[in-house]
Amino acid sequence: MAIPTVQGLLAGPAAMATTLFLYSSVYGLSRRICERIAARLTAQGETTHVAALTDTTVDSSAFDAIVIGASIKHGKHHPSVLPFLREHQALLESRPSALFSVNLVARKPAKNTPQTNPYMKALLAQSPWQPKLLGVFAGELDYSRYGPVDKHMMRFVMWINRGPTDPRTKITFTNWDEVDRFAGQVLELVRGPAVRPSAAEAPAARPAAALVAG
Ligand SMILES: Cc1cc2nc3c(=O)[nH]c(=O)nc-3n(C[C@H](O)[C@H](O)[C@H](O)COP(=O)(O)O)c2cc1C
Repeated sequence: MAIPTVQGLLAGPAAMATTLFLYSSVYGLSRRICERIAARLTAQGETTHVAALTDTTVDSSAFDAIVIGASIKHGKHHPSVLPFLREHQALLESRPSALFSVNLVARKPAKNTPQTNPYMKALLAQSPWQPKLLGVFAGELDYSRYGPVDKHMMRFVMWINRGPTDPRTKITFTNWDEVDRFAGQVLELVRGPAVRPSAAEAPAARPAAALVAG
């Protein structure tokens, strides 16, 4: 069953849909991005619930809309992500739903859109569900949180890619303005065409996210 958030309950009669955010997150950034988008929706009167993708107590079918956010580790999304998309294809297609990926490659301008990010492209190539709304966000680098092997590997990868290798590095590359723009798109998706803003009100550039036609 859906568990409405306190904010959602407080939103009262303005609440229009209950949106579920499912995150697959190793170090917490994808969860924080989900929480940020959920907060934006809640502020607009929507009801939201944020949970781990692997939380088996959550009944996804009890929600009106679903947003999935997943990070990359060692070149892949978590092994639970693709099976979830496959298993829930019909459910995801039956209601407004969106997908975003979080990774460090996306800190590069040439690889920060759903069309150019290699991890998003690889996931979509395997997923039977083709979301109408996609997002790609740059992740964070915090060597202090990694074990010795991961730290060594990440420093090597960064050295190859001319990124920061100082073991004291702690950088969040996420463009939170892009996250907020994506939140606006999620709100449009959840509410449907009837409440789309006019062209004059719509945000201009959206390089990190894309509404897919169809
Ligand atoms: C051990 C490790 C491996 C990673 N591998 C990749 C990778 O192959 N490609 C990439 O773009 N980012 C990689 N990252 C960066 C993560 O995607 C980034 O730190 C992201 O913010 C993690 O999000 P999360 O906190 O939601 O798990 C890796 C990070 C760690 C710690």
